[in-house]
Amino acid sequence: MELLKERIRKDGIIKPGNVLKVDNFLNHQMDIQLFNEIGKEFKRRFADVKVDRILTIEASGIGIAAVVAQYFDCPVVFAKKSQSINLDGTMLSTQIESFTHKRTYEVIVASRFIKPGENILVIDDFMANGCAALGLVQLIHDAHANVVGIGIVIEKGFQQGGAKLREQGLRVESLAIVDAMDADAQTITFREDS
Ligand code: G4P
Ligand code: NA
Ligand code: NA
Repeated sequence: MELLKERIRKDGIIKPGNVLKVDNFLNHQMDIQLFNEIGKEFKRRFADVKVDRILTIEASGIGIAAVVAQYFDCPVVFAKKSQSINLDGTMLSTQIESFTHKRTYEVIVASRFIKPGENILVIDDFMANGCAALGLVQLIHDAHANVVGIGIVIEKGFQQGGAKLREQGLRVESLAIVDAMDADAQTITFREDS
């Protein structure tokens, strides 16, 4: 998505350790006009699929998923990062390992918000190693619902998430795939077709 890649080039800041900061328009301040264009682009890429719900994960997935959902005319559910383990059978839960934060956390969704047989589109702002997306896919499978696709705003293509998900036969649409970043030169190489 050219508009997004231009914005990343303009406002993205490359930090040491291959971290891309996009606080100016995605992760802290949010540019809703850009979010609307992102929503239209996901709708274009997933035009052929019926989507009953969008599933994302707190915190930074929520804003983008909420705007995207308007183009699919469906509700958004966000998985909660929970500290407690008081599972009462009405909750779906899975463990997610964060390489960035070097810890494992549990995420939960009430089972009434992902029903058997529903078509679920996963939306998230970033994908690195894919642990968050894989966790959401696990929750959807546990709910006996269908993963119709995974829409990612920015994929770090030099990490393993995209490959892992695509190997599972999942349909991943990333609007910008970063293949390389140079913190000294502040330059980014995007994958051609992203
Ligand atoms: P993974 O899910 O793809 O395996 O990612 P990982 O655990 O490595 O990343 C942890 C968090 O950091 C995730 O947000 C992820 O979206 C975000 N992240 C990873 N790499 C980058 C990056 O280069 N730039 C930015 N801006 N974010 C990155 P999270 O834990 O869900 O946190 P939250 O911000 O949504 O609360
Ligand atoms: Na994040
Ligand atoms: Na996120």
